Amino acid sequence: MSRILKLAVAALALTQEACLGHARHLRTSQVFVNSRDVGNEYDYIIVGGGTAGLTVADRLTEDGASTVLVVEYGELSTHADDLRTGNSESISTVQGGFMGMADATLMYDIQSVPQKNLQNRTIAVLAGKVVGGSSAVNAMMTVRGTAADYNRWGSFFSTSSHWSWDSLLPYFKRALNFVPPDADVTKSANITYDTSFWGNTSSVRAGWPSFQYPGTTAQMDSFKGIPGVPFVKDSGSGLPGVYWYPTFMDPVLVERSYARTGHHDVAAKRPNYHLVAGSKVTRIVLNGTTATGVSFVPVSSGPVANHTALETVVSARKEVIVAAGGIHSPQVLQLSGIGPRKWLTSANITTIVDLPGVGQNLQDHPMIQATFMYRSFTFRPSPQDLLTNATFSSWSDAVWAANRTGPNSIATGNAAAWLPFPVISSRAANLSDALTAQNHTSYLPADTDPTVAAGYRAQMLSYATALAANTTAFYNLVLTGGNTNGIVVDLHPLSRGTVTINPANPYNSEPLVDYRALSNPLDVSIMADIVRFTRRYHLDNPSTRAWGATELAPGRATQTDEQFAKYLAETLSPSEFHPVGTCAMMPRELGGVVDEELRVYGVKGLRVVDASIMSTLVGGNTCQTVYAIAEKAADLIRFGPPKAATA
Ligand SMILES: Cc1cc2nc3c(=O)[nH]c(=O)nc-3n(C[C@H](O)[C@H](O)[C@H](O)COP(=O)(O)OP(=O)(O)OC[C@H]3O[C@@H](n4cnc5c(N)ncnc54)[C@H](O)[C@@H]3O)c2cc1C
Ligand SMILES: *[C@@H]1O[C@H](CO)[C@@H](O)[C@H](O)[C@H]1NC(C)=O
Ligand SMILES: *[C@@H]1O[C@H](CO)[C@@H](O)[C@H](O)[C@H]1NC(C)=O
Ligand SMILES: *[C@@H]1O[C@H](CO)[C@@H](O)[C@H](O)[C@H]1NC(C)=O
Ligand SMILES: *[C@@H]1O[C@H](CO)[C@@H](O)[C@H](O)[C@H]1NC(C)=O
Ligand SMILES: *[C@@H]1O[C@H](CO)[C@@H](O)[C@H](O)[C@H]1NC(C)=O
Ligand SMILES: *[C@@H]1O[C@H](CO)[C@@H](O)[C@H](O)[C@H]1NC(C)=O
Ligand SMILES: *[C@@H]1O[C@H](CO)[C@@H](O)[C@H](O)[C@H]1NC(C)=O
Ligand SMILES: *[C@@H]1O[C@H](CO)[C@@H](O)[C@H](O)[C@H]1NC(C)=O
Ligand SMILES: *[C@@H]1O[C@H](CO)[C@@H](O)[C@H](O)[C@H]1NC(C)=O
Ligand SMILES: *[C@@H]1O[C@H](CO)[C@@H](O)[C@H](O)[C@H]1NC(C)=O
Ligand SMILES: *[C@@H]1O[C@H](CO)[C@@H](O)[C@H](O)[C@H]1NC(C)=O
Repeated sequence: MSRILKLAVAALALTQEACLGHARHLRTSQVFVNSRDVGNEYDYIIVGGGTAGLTVADRLTEDGASTVLVVEYGELSTHADDLRTGNSESISTVQGGFMGMADATLMYDIQSVPQKNLQNRTIAVLAGKVVGGSSAVNAMMTVRGTAADYNRWGSFFSTSSHWSWDSLLPYFKRALNFVPPDADVTKSANITYDTSFWGNTSSVRAGWPSFQYPGTTAQMDSFKGIPGVPFVKDSGSGLPGVYWYPTFMDPVLVERSYARTGHHDVAAKRPNYHLVAGSKVTRIVLNGTTATGVSFVPVSSGPVANHTALETVVSARKEVIVAAGGIHSPQVLQLSGIGPRKWLTSANITTIVDLPGVGQNLQDHPMIQATFMYRSFTFRPSPQDLLTNATFSSWSDAVWAANRTGPNSIATGNAAAWLPFPVISSRAANLSDALTAQNHTSYLPADTDPTVAAGYRAQMLSYATALAANTTAFYNLVLTGGNTNGIVVDLHPLSRGTVTINPANPYNSEPLVDYRALSNPLDVSIMADIVRFTRRYHLDNPSTRAWGATELAPGRATQTDEQFAKYLAETLSPSEFHPVGTCAMMPRELGGVVDEELRVYGVKGLRVVDASIMSTLVGGNTCQTVYAIAEKAADLIRFGPPKAATA
């Protein structure tokens, strides 16, 4: 049986190699599609060639001496090459920002478990499955969240933690190369920015479209009709408010700039960087409690009864770094015997380290439907003109074809409001008190480990302070410049979910993802106030009144918290595709999985570096944060923790 399987795999691998031969030829001999080309031993092995994994690999190979193998489940796309030769494709295309989402081959196929508080609806769990990971498919919004979000991470350790806004700022600067917007557009749209918050050395670019709809500026200005809304000069300043932000875009090529173009393509020129694509890591190889390597199988082998026969085992002289993202990093740890004993036992996996936090603490940004349509929005041109005005849409296509300028250079937009709770709600102090007074444990699964419950309580007490203060953003409305607005985002949900290996088929199936949406009932009150404020902005605001907004959803009949509970159960989407927290950086006694140096508790030679280490969500889309985490991690790995600041 195993011989037949091996033959089948070899045949598949040959076909695969023929398909990817083009890319392999164009790139370098260090990028493999076949495990037989991989060496036996490397200094570092990185599990997952996504946003964080490729950043770390690039930095660790900069010295020309340290050898690194990246093992990536997805393929090395040839798309970027296609675009340069004139074919349109899904990854590089900027317009719409979400083209990658439309291409199912670039994404894992995962549905959440039925959500008890959402009428048993299941939710699509989106994550990139290609070299570049989720940075290849995301909507390109380039934001950071607030300083308070980062100081919160350190606060769970000590007041002198080296995880803080101040200590991360240099890594934000190293992570991205900021190219300011065109001077004419800056002037006509009133774009503000401050380059002192940015760097200009990274090969990952943050750029701007060469066009803005005039309605966007008007929608930003209209927040002046509501007292107390702060306006912020630059998205990188760590302050909440209304601001402009850039796009993950190379402004010269006007293409997506992501971990593949900015890190893989750079590192692939070095002989000490190897990447093997189409390869699924099944487990971390451990000698006792020391990580000594990884084991992987070709994805093309499909579901198999016995992985051992197909496994390639490669050794790591120094470290194994897990960077498989918020959904898959906890799965890889659990398959390796590192996780909650109860879950591992139910899947017949021997527990090496009983680490209760692995796969707990799942958080994501809920998207709430609050749909408004303006009858008299007079700003022209406007995004809907692309659909209704043939003159405008052909001009748009013509300037794009001529020099990649115009409306097609806009991804998902570049302006939004990120507001603290006291600014949007008159009951901030009340909800803060209610959160403090809760029996937090009662909103976690019944069998939750006491350390995980203690960590949840610490998070909720920190959020209670944040709810009553003006330093953390809870509210996000993205401004489109058009005559309709549909989604509003809760940046700090209280409910926590889980990611568990499937006990019935741990190696061959995706993990079970349960957002446990609305399991903390105060989320309903917070989200109700988020919608109420959105109503106020559109309907009860001197600056927007002339636009003649109509509320399409939820509709004026939804007023009380009870009515909102029903509406949210019917319509809430618990994910903005920002899963974090499942390998949380917290003290072990607070249910943490990694320490401040991102080392897995109880295991030597093993770190996690990706979105899963965020103990609490940041008040912004998560990609820029992941790049900064990875840049800092590369320094922790190379140089150890920073020397304590001298008094
Ligand atoms: C549709 C979508 C839209 C988004 N929009 C935005 C946005 O506009 N702005 C923003 O800032 N953020 C956005 N995000 C979020 C952001 O892109 C992610 O938070 C970030 O890219 C995550 O980085 P990561 O390194 O943690 O994981 P990823 O970049 O997902 O990398 C994980 C990698 O590990 C690989 N992998 C997984 N399991 C295995 C295994 N067993 N063996 C080998 N390899 C494995 C995966 O294939 C993947 O390449 C979006 C995400 C999605 C999915
Ligand atoms: C959801 O599923 C559970 C378990 O199958 C069932 O008891 C419950 O009635 C369902 N709820 C709804 C609203 O369908
Ligand atoms: C830009 O700002 C200036 C000064 O505040 C103002 O006069 C002008 O109307 C603004 N332009 C737009 C397009 O809002
Ligand atoms: C890059 O940033 C440095 C430091 O802020 C600045 O001195 C330099 O002029 C910048 N270079 C470019 C090309 O923008
Ligand atoms: C927060 O800002 C709002 C609006 O400016 C103000 O009314 C409120 O008093 C502030 N709250 C705190 C705690 O600073
Ligand atoms: C495991 O570690 C022990 C102790 O360091 C060592 O003696 C042994 O050779 C190792 N085993 C393997 C298979 O590497
Ligand atoms: C799986 O395959 C390995 C290697 O071929 C073999 O040693 C092992 O016995 C097999 N396990 C099972 C359960 O068949
Ligand atoms: C259509 O677009 C053109 C070019 O932008 C503009 O001049 C014209 O006024 C638009 N027509 C309508 C009906 O909006
Ligand atoms: C881009 O092309 C259009 C149409 O040919 C032209 O009007 C415009 O001046 C060009 N812009 C730049 C920046 O080259
Ligand atoms: C806040 O709580 C107090 C005391 O419970 C109550 O009297 C008051 O109405 C509440 N305010 C709001 C805005 O809910
Ligand atoms: C809090 O909730 C937990 C779990 O539901 C329960 O065991 C515990 O007794 C509760 N504590 C208090 C003080 O009510
Ligand atoms: C676990 O082992 C038990 C007993 O050997 C067996 O009945 C069960 O099917 C196994 N489960 C899995 C998921 O392999």
